[in-house]
Amino acid sequence: MQSPSDSIVSVSDLSKKYRATVAVDGISFALSKGEVFAFLGPNGAGKTTTVEILECLRRPTGGQARVLGYDVSKRSDQSEIRKRIGVLPQDFNAIDRLTVKENIDYFGAMFDHQLDANKLIELVDLKDKTNAQFKTLSGGLKQRVGLAAALVNDPSVVFLDEPTTGLDPRARRDVWNVVERLKQQGKTVFLTTHYMDEAEFLADTVSIIDRGKIIASGTPNELIDSHGGKKTLVIRDAGENGLKLLPLGVEKAELRNAGDIYVPLNNGADLSHILVSLGQTGLANKEIEVRRPTLDDVFLNLTGRRVSEEGNGA
Ligand SMILES: Nc1ncnc2c1ncn2[C@@H]1O[C@H](COP(=O)(O)OP(=O)(O)OP(=O)(O)O)[C@@H](O)[C@H]1O
Ligand SMILES: [Mg+2]
Repeated sequence: MQSPSDSIVSVSDLSKKYRATVAVDGISFALSKGEVFAFLGPNGAGKTTTVEILECLRRPTGGQARVLGYDVSKRSDQSEIRKRIGVLPQDFNAIDRLTVKENIDYFGAMFDHQLDANKLIELVDLKDKTNAQFKTLSGGLKQRVGLAAALVNDPSVVFLDEPTTGLDPRARRDVWNVVERLKQQGKTVFLTTHYMDEAEFLADTVSIIDRGKIIASGTPNELIDSHGGKKTLVIRDAGENGLKLLPLGVEKAELRNAGDIYVPLNNGADLSHILVSLGQTGLANKEIEVRRPTLDDVFLNLTGRRVSEEGNGA
């Protein structure tokens, strides 16, 4: 068990009120070195507010937060934190008329020590765009310029606020690749997202935040095991007749997607029983798959709501 002083980020009973709105409501968590942490939650959950407190852009109204051992509420500590962190804000923008390289140099000039712009451009796979004007880039490429800019002071911890929101699947993957490289370099990454698959793919640990409160924390596997619910056996393209061929004792089987049968599984014994029986029926030649619950199911089970593509806890 690590002590809070070993933590790269440690937050204890943190809260933030904006007049009547309680944006962050008594949250606690810690990040250790080299960890990718995903702060997962729908629109308005309090993700950006928390990140902005850690970046010393906003003052908390209660509780404590430390970054790299420095206190975010102490004036003398704030400049130490700012020197040592990387920030990709939710609405990142650079200077339209400058090239990719000129932009990275521009961000670098704000720090005493900066990494070589060309190396950073390579790290985010933008070499062939080095001399392209920022305004000519697609959303995904712009976001990768933002990642390079966030790394320009060689930070030990990087805050990425919804780095892939609004990007197409391919561009999201490209950003994920960069985050994986950061992890390989030993950086600690604090990522906010409303994409369940992103958290599942990238994060070592996840805290789910909803309406200002952390409602669950753990590795993706731990969260799925404790809150995801049952695994499901899917028999593809088995149709209405397939339902009748299912062995006795299988309850709650459902027909979905025009012909697929979904059977909730209680345990491994259940699965073997069904598979043996299937072998003896006309369903033996069907495509069969066991589906694990996802973080989507975890959020649904904990809140009764789904996080939609737009991030609304609808
Ligand atoms: N500057 C502000 N003044 C007043 N209320 C604010 C301010 N910033 C955020 N809020 C409110 O605080 C709550 C948390 O907002 P926050 O932006 O931290 O959420 P978020 O999880 O980042 O959401 P999103 O997914 O939309 O980015 C919301 O109810 C929001 O309306
Ligand atoms: Mg936000």
